[in-house]
Amino acid sequence: MTEVAPRRVRIVQGGPIMVEGPVCLELPDGSTAESDRFMVAICACHRSKTYPWCDTSHRRRARRAKTDSAAAKPAEASAQGMQ
Ligand code: FES
Repeated sequence: MTEVAPRRVRIVQGGPIMVEGPVCLELPDGSTAESDRFMVAICACHRSKTYPWCDTSHRRRARRAKTDSAAAKPAEASAQGMQ
């Protein structure tokens, strides 16, 4: 009997789920999507225009969050000065 190594699946924080391909995904509506790539990035944020595949749209959300936090700092600084 041959032992098969477990398939490695990597969840990227704020990004896709990386799975060794090829894969066949069954979607909630019953349809299927197939990829024969060596490594497949499955969208976990539901922002991809090529869903269920990741198209890196998740990155735009992360950049905006950084900009928002940088913009909030001057307001925080002035609020501290008012106390
Ligand atoms: S995880 Fe990359 S676009 Fe959704």
